[in-house]
Parts: sequence; C-alpha cells; structure tokens
Amino acid sequence: MDYTRQTLAFKIRKTVRYVRLYGIGRTWTKIAAQYHMKRVFPGQESLPVPAGKSLKHVGIIGCGKFAYANIAYYVCKNYGDVIRGVMDADLDKAISLGKRYQADYYTTDAEAVLTDPAVTLVYIASNHASHTDYAIRAIQNGKAVHIEKPHAVTEDQLVRLCNAMQRYTGRVRLGFNRPDSTLGRLLSDHFARQTGPALINWFVAGHQIEADHWYFAELEGGRILGNLCHWIDFTMRLIPEEYRFPVQIIPTRSGKSDCDISVSYVFGDGSIGTITFSAKGHTFEGVRETMNAHRGNLLASLTDFSALRLDIGERVIRRRLWFRDHGHQHSICTSYQMLKNPSVAESTKIVWESGYLTIKTKDALDTNRPVRVEGYNPTFGPVSPVSSNEP
Ligand SMILES: NC(=O)c1ccc[n+]([C@@H]2O[C@H](COP(=O)([O-])OP(=O)(O)OC[C@H]3O[C@@H](n4cnc5c(N)ncnc54)[C@H](O)[C@@H]3O)[C@@H](O)[C@H]2O)c1
Repeated sequence: MDYTRQTLAFKIRKTVRYVRLYGIGRTWTKIAAQYHMKRVFPGQESLPVPAGKSLKHVGIIGCGKFAYANIAYYVCKNYGDVIRGVMDADLDKAISLGKRYQADYYTTDAEAVLTDPAVTLVYIASNHASHTDYAIRAIQNGKAVHIEKPHAVTEDQLVRLCNAMQRYTGRVRLGFNRPDSTLGRLLSDHFARQTGPALINWFVAGHQIEADHWYFAELEGGRILGNLCHWIDFTMRLIPEEYRFPVQIIPTRSGKSDCDISVSYVFGDGSIGTITFSAKGHTFEGVRETMNAHRGNLLASLTDFSALRLDIGERVIRRRLWFRDHGHQHSICTSYQMLKNPSVAESTKIVWESGYLTIKTKDALDTNRPVRVEGYNPTFGPVSPVSSNEP
C-alpha cells in the first residue's frame, strides 16, 4: 500500500498506532522512507568514485525503503557517517539515500561500489533475483557482505553463492533478523537448554502486497522466497544443528501456492514445525505473528516480537517490550562486526541449508506434494557441475 496517497485521517491513525508500536524515532524514519521513494532529482547523474583514501567504507546496493529506514539508519546511528557509496538501478533512490546519509557518491553502476577499494562491507537490499550475483561479486572482491533475504531464489544461485564462499573465503551474513531480536535470542537460549524433539507452531498474517508488486514477478520467487523464508530460517535454527536433516516438507494449500498456505516440517530428530501464512486484507499494524512452541519442560509463547512467555516447569518468565523489536538493528550491526570479528559470519553450511530448505518449500507448495530434503553435503551441494563454471 502506498501510504503517501492515503487520506490525512488514515495517515494520522497509522502514525499514532506506529508511535505506540515502534516509538517516535522509528515511526519518523519509516514515514521518511515512504517519501524517500517519491523523491526525484531531475538532470542529475551518477557520481564517480572519488580518488584517494576515505575513512568511509560501507557500500549499499539497492536503496529502497528497507535500505533507507533500516540499513543506512542503523549503520549511521551506531557507527557514524561510514557510508561510502550507494547504488540503485533507479538513480533517484541512490541520490536520495546518499544525500540523507552523507555517502561519498551515488551511482547506478553496481561494479563501482563492488570494486571500490575503500569499501570493505557491502549491504545488499535490491530486488530478490539480483542478490546472489551482487553477493558473489562482493565476495570475489574480498568484501564482507550482508545479504538481505532471500540470499538465493534458485538452486543454481545457491550453488554458485556457496561455491564462491568456499573459493574466496568470503564473509557472509544473511538478513534473517528475527533470531537476532531481543525476544528471539531469549527464546533460542532457553530452547537450547532443553532436550528432545520440539513442536513449533507459527501463525503469521502477512502484510498486503499489491498483485503487481515486484515480489510477484516470475524471477523474484514470490512470497515463499520473499517472506516465508524468515520463519523457515528461524524454525530451522531452533532445532540443534546436528539433528535438523533430513527434513520432510508437507504442504497444505488451496488456490494459491504462496499465500494462505500452511507448511509443516518434520526434522531429523522428529521435531515438527508448522508455519501458517495468511495474506488477505490490509494488516493495519504490519506483519502479525504468533508462535507457540514446546520442548522438554519449556512452553513458549511469542507475540509480535513484543511479548514472550516462557513456562519452564513451575517457573514462569514474562517479557514485554515497550516497542516491537524484530532484530533489525542487532542483525545489521552484527554484520558490521564481521569486519573485526569474522566468527560472526555464517558458515557455508547454514547458508546452504537455510536457502535450500526455503527453495524446496516453494517446490513443495508449487507442486502440492511432500518433498524430502537432505542436509548440506559438500559433494552434492556447492561443489556441483553448475559451480564449475564459476571463474
Ligand atoms: N529483513 C527484513 O525484515 C526486510 C524487510 C523488508 C525488506 N527486506 C528486503 O530488503 C530488500 C529491499 O526491499 P524493500 O522493501 O526496500 O523494497 P523497495 O521496493 O522499497 O526497494 C527495492 C530497491 O531496489 C532497487 N532495485 C531494483 N532492482 C535493482 C537491481 N537489479 N540493482 C540494484 N537496485 C535495484 C529499486 O529501484 C528499489 O529502490 C529486499 O530483499 C527485501 O526482501 C527485508
């Protein structure tokens, strides 16, 4: 929905509600991001990469709402004016973001950013089909890279990405922010202290996306790759790494394959995860999500990443946050820390398993048939005939 075109009364109601949910600062930035997408700069051209050394060292590819309201916002809030170069296929978006966050240059040429020697870390937040190739170029040029979700929309892309990570020892983090949220971390911590198979149940009401939105373009992967990947990844990470695979994916769908669906996963240790994803009308408060889970003596109930109740035997832990925290700040800052602390980077194994499980979930829902997924195995995963073409 284009909020800038709604009635004044709607805008006021929405703003008031968002101030309560996210606080004044975040609400203001979200509003600014909407108007950022409208800004035009007639007669302007890309700026060249300035010669000489620079203390600024962050590149951004894709300067849409997410880059404006989250990536650039949190990077500058936490580390100062470190954004060196920004790129977008639409120059107006690059100029608007570049000026707001004081980048050294803005451009429509991705190679300018990806080969700029001053850039050591690249955040990729462009359209979904382009993420992998930008990430591979960044890795080949020795940059650390944060890839917004999804990191790959096809198996071929995933193979090439994992192959590049191995070949160039590239540092990569994925933009799955929910495990990095305040309540996500608390939940994961308590989950890991229990033993035995788990049962994890999500109900998610996704925000409304117009039928002609670019998410639905053939190459972009639709809402399974674009949205469901968040909960697939988080559910997978809650299962101990050594017990995750093989996974049986069981789809339930009606007319559509990526909205109003339910999908279940039976993990290697017998754990069951179910994600129910409803997308119908407008959800005034954005994405709504509840999760109930049970493992050992732990019963967990999470609401909208603002409230969590953990029952551990007779003990009850309750956390209620002032404002929703989906983990964006923590995720974006942890990616920044890859520069000094490579141990926070993702392994090739998890990049593969998270991406493959999501791609196979789409297959299962498209065909309406169960699919069995094996875990990472370097001999059939990244090292495959497709990857041998990689330079
Ligand atoms: N982690 C999260 O919670 C979260 C939330 C929202 C969006 N995202 C992700 O952030 C990314 C951007 O989403 P958004 O909401 O900002 O979308 P958007 O439509 O607001 O912005 C996308 C931008 O990418 C640009 N673009 C399109 N094709 C390009 C290309 N080939 N190269 C460079 N730029 C290109 C567009 O011009 C646009 O400015 C997506 O990957 C999306 O999934 C993540």
